[in-house]
Amino acid sequence: MEDRAKIGSVIRQHLEAEQFFAGFSVRGQNDAGEFQEQEDDMAVTRSAGELEKLAEEVRQCRKCGLASSRTNAVPGEGNPDARIMFIGEAPGADEDAQGSPFVGRAGQLLDKIIAACGLERDDVYIGNILKCRPPGNRDPRADEIIACLPYLQRQIELIQPEVIVALGAHAAKTLLDTTKSIGELRGQFHEYYAGLGQMPVKLMATYHPAYLLRSYSPENRRKVWEDMQKVLTELGLPIPERSRR
Ligand code: URA
Ligand code: SF4
Repeated sequence: MEDRAKIGSVIRQHLEAEQFFAGFSVRGQNDAGEFQEQEDDMAVTRSAGELEKLAEEVRQCRKCGLASSRTNAVPGEGNPDARIMFIGEAPGADEDAQGSPFVGRAGQLLDKIIAACGLERDDVYIGNILKCRPPGNRDPRADEIIACLPYLQRQIELIQPEVIVALGAHAAKTLLDTTKSIGELRGQFHEYYAGLGQMPVKLMATYHPAYLLRSYSPENRRKVWEDMQKVLTELGLPIPERSRR
């Protein structure tokens, strides 16, 4: 409980400091559509470059104890212009071995969820709260989250997703700075606050695919699918008819 409050205040301080130094960035307004498109393309290229720089920083990072037990850091990957960002908890054994997020069994289920939405992995961005694997897949510790979260905050800032899907309790509670359970949080939109002066980002919390694998009931699958349908509706995307999980 105390840890949670501490994380919250560290996040706020970090954001406030960042805001103070960053000033305001205003997106270009232009009537000439083509020119705007070029500007947008340039912005995406720029953020792709920044994301890669950040990923390299993560691969070198030794800010918490997990640096000494990891094989590979897992910075996250996907479309730098993604409308949806999926955020999990931390890499598992497969992710640690490969350096990519959600590539094990839970990842295969996440791929199915993405496909059921009529999307491909390349359309979205996939990341985690912690970039290095906790030994034995234990829960993330508060000090690790505090050390690592600025990376994810930067990724969200660069990608500017329209919706964040928090996978599981750890991601949802951390991003929403709450102690509520995933059962209470899922199924409705919340707001992720990126910082003062920035638009909040819609956040949908849902069950973690690893939890779904452990409790693969029609009921739980239906709930995740309902959550994802809300995300698609929010984005004005069609809901594929034949999707079954
Ligand atoms: N579980 C997670 O939370 N993240 C991964 O990358 C893989 C499994
Ligand atoms: Fe750095 Fe995050 Fe890895 Fe810790 S978990 S070493 S803070 S990248």
